[in-house]
Amino acid sequence: MGDDRATAPRKTAPTKTVFIKTYGCQMNVYDSERMADVLRPFGYGVTDAPEGADLVVLNTCHIRERATEKVYTELGHLKRMKQRKAQAGGRMMIAVAGCVAQAEGVQIRHRQPAVDLVVGPQAYHQLPELIARAHRASGEKLSADFSPQDKFDALPKERGVTGVSAFLTVQEGCDKFCTFCVVPYTRGAEWSRPAADIEAEARVLADKGVREVTLLGQNVNAYDGLEGGLAALVRRLARIDGIDRIRYTTSHQRDMDDALIAAHGELPELMPYLHLPVQAGSDRILKAMNRAHTADSYLRLVEKIRVARPDMALSGDFIVGFPNEREADFEATLNLVRAVNYASAFTFKYSRRPGTPASAMPGQLSDAVKDERLARLNALVQEQQAAFNTATEGATLPVLIEKIGRLPGQIVGRSPYLQPVHCEGPASLIGKIVPVTILTGQRGSLAGKLEVGRLEMETA
Ligand code: 5AD
Ligand code: SF4
Repeated sequence: MGDDRATAPRKTAPTKTVFIKTYGCQMNVYDSERMADVLRPFGYGVTDAPEGADLVVLNTCHIRERATEKVYTELGHLKRMKQRKAQAGGRMMIAVAGCVAQAEGVQIRHRQPAVDLVVGPQAYHQLPELIARAHRASGEKLSADFSPQDKFDALPKERGVTGVSAFLTVQEGCDKFCTFCVVPYTRGAEWSRPAADIEAEARVLADKGVREVTLLGQNVNAYDGLEGGLAALVRRLARIDGIDRIRYTTSHQRDMDDALIAAHGELPELMPYLHLPVQAGSDRILKAMNRAHTADSYLRLVEKIRVARPDMALSGDFIVGFPNEREADFEATLNLVRAVNYASAFTFKYSRRPGTPASAMPGQLSDAVKDERLARLNALVQEQQAAFNTATEGATLPVLIEKIGRLPGQIVGRSPYLQPVHCEGPASLIGKIVPVTILTGQRGSLAGKLEVGRLEMETA
């Protein structure tokens, strides 16, 4: 597939070795091959002997008699190899995968503490995540051979340099391990910047004339650099003179706690726009994506947020054509979009990222199917976006003016819902929050009339 080749991993020589011993059935042979596939981008090359390997995986089967006991015997040998390697200053990780791992569970590590990882039956799905976590736990950096400049990995780029609105990084990394995503490997564990540093930077920005800050993080609402999390940080920043608008992106449903939802109802500085990706509307696909939420739990969360802030504009990310996505799964995504009614949305064709568990899943779809679904999803979200914008016609919105427009005498800013708004007015209004009555709402922007008489109105 065209888009997949473009993101193929660079061909570098393996720097680590993995020995995979396969017991039992064809299923396990297949699983072992996929494990080798997902480990390759992390620098693991397959070796045919366990001695000296960096990682040994026993992909087990307990159908045959005494199979479990055989695994423990093998683990005894491996333990000694591991000790030998440690004495020479190296490290060997031992993983038990497959049916015995499922049957014995944590028991394995009790009986043989040399085991580092126990992975369930569809082992390869979990292997990259478990290896990455094991590396993090030991403080080692996992060097992944992903192509640089991944378009899904980057935080948003600086939006214009208007001097009025600025991005402020507060968090990096991700611990969620969605099976399609490279971020947990490329960006590492969730990390929060100290609140004092963020506050100091926000004050500097405010002194320079910034009125709006957008707090950035791959998992921004997992922020824990302050007791009370992101909600506490937002409250602290809202007290800074000059900072009148606060936004944050990107959020994960799991970290959308009650305090943050409550802040949306209470803080006028917190803008009524929330980017809350759901990715898909089918529970089967969400599970395969390792999203740890269902379509229903997402909808209930949205409802709760809208109780706190009834005019909340929602935005989301969607992936179409995830491995094994059936027509009915895709329709569940369309239904979820209909149920939420988004103000904007980012839609993606599933792209195979080597090293991610989903890239090794069977049931990869053709580009033609992905294209067709993407077109249908786009039609729906564009319709919703247009409807959201036309619904503002006649309303007077507080607009933060950011810059002069393309036409003479025109100025451009943003509504609380992040819609670009243009109207006629003097450049002296840049940096001010002014009332604009919306005359026409189109899909991409709003056109309005400055309410000169009510110029001093600030955010409602
Ligand atoms: N294929 C398609 N979309 C992806 N995203 C992340 N990884 C992939 C991938 N492999 C999308 C998700 C995420 C957004 C930043 O990029 O929707 O939320
Ligand atoms: Fe990637 Fe976002 Fe999932 Fe983290 S939560 S793994 S950044 S898609």
